[in-house]
Amino acid sequence: MEIQENFSLKDYNTFGIDAKARYYVEITSIEELIHALKLDEYPDKFIISGGSNMLITKDINALVMHINLKGIAVISEEDKAVIIEVMAGENWHDLVLWSLSHNYGGLENLSLIPGNTGTAPIQNIGAYGVELKDVFHSCDAMNIASTLIETFSKKACKFGYRDSFFKNEGKGKYIITSVRLRLSKKDHLLNTSYGAIDAELENNRIKNPSIQDVSNAVIAIRQRKLPDPNELGNSGSFFKNPVLGKSEFHEFEKAYPNAPFYSISDEEYKIPAGWLIEQCGYKGKRVGDAGVHKNQALVLVNYGNATGIEILNLANEIQESVFGKFRIKILPEVNIIG
Ligand code: EPU
Repeated sequence: MEIQENFSLKDYNTFGIDAKARYYVEITSIEELIHALKLDEYPDKFIISGGSNMLITKDINALVMHINLKGIAVISEEDKAVIIEVMAGENWHDLVLWSLSHNYGGLENLSLIPGNTGTAPIQNIGAYGVELKDVFHSCDAMNIASTLIETFSKKACKFGYRDSFFKNEGKGKYIITSVRLRLSKKDHLLNTSYGAIDAELENNRIKNPSIQDVSNAVIAIRQRKLPDPNELGNSGSFFKNPVLGKSEFHEFEKAYPNAPFYSISDEEYKIPAGWLIEQCGYKGKRVGDAGVHKNQALVLVNYGNATGIEILNLANEIQESVFGKFRIKILPEVNIIG
């Protein structure tokens, strides 16, 4: 276990922000994780995984621990389903491809989401009508204070829209070490209800889609709309879609009858933040190397050398503009570090 100093994190966050870690260490086993957490000479510790949901706005004056635990295994098998255990450092999309290659169903709608498996439960990743919670069985997480591993059931994780226990009461207290998922082995239940998937399958004249077909459709849609972090730094949706209560929503609907929305229940309606941002004229806007993606206004991008502060300034300006026009507060989905 080698501790490096003044280590650039540019390749370790998908925004490609060139911030430095005062100290940096790669963690490849549970033993190393315990050892590093007990290093009293580095009192401040900071955990980084896939770096796909963070905006670093200044150098990190701590021991940055990069969780790189690897391994995927089937741990139990029934007639129709398997439970797999995936170590936290496994890349999420590689896991999706692995599941497809074994004909295990459940992850196909979550294709091409950047980041690692260990951070997927923190914000309950979701796309195209499916959320992690739909396939989640349980996870193991190390209690940072005790260095003991605790198991969290689905209920204990308190999943919500881009939300969980680990973003609230558990914040800063745990490091997820592995995630267990329940996947189907046959009679896969496909979720193609999300309009864009249906349209994509129809375009390709696919009548009885397989899980591979659904994954291909999701990949095609994402590639058209969302920038590849390997080509253009970004963290996916920068903001969460705001949720309006009934009366607030009815007023909004009266003023903007053509606005898209999803009804969550009779009481709650989600408005796409991308639409609100586009209406404010920000889609495709660029300020220096910070910008708003041309195909999806919910995604902020780094054209090369933007600092975290420059991206944050643009995000703040967008929030103010959306509030000024619609009186709706949009909140970041990504973690702002600094
Ligand atoms: N829209 C616009 N302009 C834009 C972007 C979107 O008018 O610039 C409109 C679209 O036309 C559509 C609606 O907004 O009517 C919804 O757009 P889309 O289907 O692209 O989904 P989204 O609400 O913008 C959410 C997730 C994405 C996920 C997609 C598909 C959040 C914060 N984002 O985006 O998640 O891929 O649905 O399920 O919930 C992510 O979290 O990083 C992410 C990409």
